[in-house]
Amino acid sequence: MNDVDLTAEKYEKHREAGEILAEVRDEAAERVEVGVSHLEIAEWAEDRIRELGGEPAFPVNISIDEEAAHATPSVEDDETFGEELINLDIGVSVDGWLADTAVTVDLAGRDELAEASAEALDAALDIVQAGVETGEIGAVVEETIEGYGFNPVVNLTGHGLGQYEQHTEPNIPNRAVDQSVTLEAGDVVAIEPFATDGPGKVREGSDEEIFALEREGSIRDRRARQALEQIAEEFKTLPFATRWLDVKRPKMALRRLKQQDIIHGYPVLKEDDGHYVSQKEHTIIVTEDGCEVTTRSR
Ligand code: CO
Repeated sequence: MNDVDLTAEKYEKHREAGEILAEVRDEAAERVEVGVSHLEIAEWAEDRIRELGGEPAFPVNISIDEEAAHATPSVEDDETFGEELINLDIGVSVDGWLADTAVTVDLAGRDELAEASAEALDAALDIVQAGVETGEIGAVVEETIEGYGFNPVVNLTGHGLGQYEQHTEPNIPNRAVDQSVTLEAGDVVAIEPFATDGPGKVREGSDEEIFALEREGSIRDRRARQALEQIAEEFKTLPFATRWLDVKRPKMALRRLKQQDIIHGYPVLKEDDGHYVSQKEHTIIVTEDGCEVTTRSR
């Protein structure tokens, strides 16, 4: 048995990030109503995170109906919420130590679908402890969601959280898998079941508003260079939104950086049209006999 010191500074920062995030998530979810603007919610949540002493770990994701992840408003976005199924996925960084959480706000009367992912997360948290296999977690998630008559989204997974690294090993699958990893005390992971009335496999859409640094590099174009300086300094390897850039004509700058493979994009991920996706996510610290949920509501 490896002794891990759960009072170490990095865990304290994960906890601080989780505490800020729980408050912002719950308040943001309450603000989501028919007629409210997407951009207003995203910016409100991101500003509130900064006010409380953290930094957004990635742009607030607002995914609607068939969208599952990676949708965030552009700077000229004028969309407002309708009678839809809305997933809010939000992250906080405290010195690069992260918390990641998501909740579905149901304005579409799809309460069973929202409940399916929430129940799946609870069932997963019930079995987590040092020594549990990630495949067992996936099996419990799959079983719970299928019990509601829905499908888990199998090509989206939970993940480890590293310093300034939003997705690290191990993956936490949303179905039973053969290849699996044993969780250890001190592992910090996000578990995020997605439930859908569609086939359970998301595809990449054409919209892309979120990017992250891929490698160091230099670029001649002046605005692209300015954008790269801001990215390296402020966001490091964490995902950022086009609307966070201070340069003029940011889309052009990003296109240049992408052509050189200095950054990569995160296209919106979606189910087939006409279907719906719900999501619930918490960040946990695995302990010998269970887990500590850093993003639990206070
Ligand atoms: Co996550």
